[in-house]
Amino acid sequence: MISLNNILEKGYKEKNLSKDEIIALLNSDGKALCEYADRTRKEFLGDEVHLRGLIEFSNICKCSCKYCGLRSANTNADRYRLEPDEILKYVKQGVELGYKTVVLQSGEDAYYDIDKLCHIVREIKKSDVALTLSIGEKTKEEYKALKEAGADRYLLRIETTDKELYQKMHPNMSYENRVECLYNIKELGYETGSGCLVGLPEQSVESLADDILFFKKLDADMIGIGPFIPHPDTPLNSELNPENFDMALKVMAAVRLLMPDINIPATTAMETINPNGRIIALQSGANVVMPNILDTEYKVKYEIYPNKICLNEHSGKCRNCIEAKIKSIGRYVSQTKGFHKSSK
Ligand code: 5AD
Ligand code: FES
Repeated sequence: MISLNNILEKGYKEKNLSKDEIIALLNSDGKALCEYADRTRKEFLGDEVHLRGLIEFSNICKCSCKYCGLRSANTNADRYRLEPDEILKYVKQGVELGYKTVVLQSGEDAYYDIDKLCHIVREIKKSDVALTLSIGEKTKEEYKALKEAGADRYLLRIETTDKELYQKMHPNMSYENRVECLYNIKELGYETGSGCLVGLPEQSVESLADDILFFKKLDADMIGIGPFIPHPDTPLNSELNPENFDMALKVMAAVRLLMPDINIPATTAMETINPNGRIIALQSGANVVMPNILDTEYKVKYEIYPNKICLNEHSGKCRNCIEAKIKSIGRYVSQTKGFHKSSK
């Protein structure tokens, strides 16, 4: 049996591991894994941290993902959608706060047809910012139109590569279609982001290893990993399992070890279940943070999971707070747009 240390050395040198070797890393306590991930991050990307200003512009969603508080079946959710002008107002605030990237995220809300979305994209791209979209599954033609309008990046988490679990978690959705969307996004020249949830009911360590191998095969530019946090108004309304944090951190660190130069956020979900979660993540392979730039009235309503951080903080306060935290660990906020610098 090859020792943990040998697996880490092999992963560090070759940027490739077998499924069994990844499983061994995920079954370890994670300490050495996180150290290797931090070392890899420093070597390939230095101490720069990229900030992305997040605008969650609609919480209306046609999907009914079992874990998500915004699922269409949740009648307790207080729904909102921002008109294009309001979205652009927040983008302006983000630019003024110094964000070099804005991320537009929403539920799958058909109100924003492709013409509306392309208009918003074109308006945003009049400013000197990179633009990431995180608005779900679209047709290839729609992805193409948004790319031509100027969008730079697209986030679409696969959520889990365990097909059976995927089908259970996502009623009326298709795993194959999700994979196809990701390959379409990639083919169209977007910087492509994916990721998974960690700690879903019945999710195995084996399937998390498969998730990591999937990200590598996709050759993703960005990977976001978050712990599953149960929402009381969903079918998965169990107690929070605090171990989801440790496993999410290990999955993230293993992604860094094997994908040394990609962008990896310290996710908000990590900080939601651990008061120092984003800093721990930044010290375990992450190099990106995505603070919210909306006002409280909307942040409160974008309740994917409960107890989200910074609900009452003004966007300017979060911008300063996160910069101070980043500096406190000897890192600094990047002044660039933070595109994926491939070392291949
Ligand atoms: N806990 C943690 N993350 C969640 N997401 C959705 N619901 C939850 C939850 N209950 C994540 C999904 C989605 C992203 C926007 O939020 O991975 O892709
Ligand atoms: Fe919002 Fe610290 S990031 S208050």
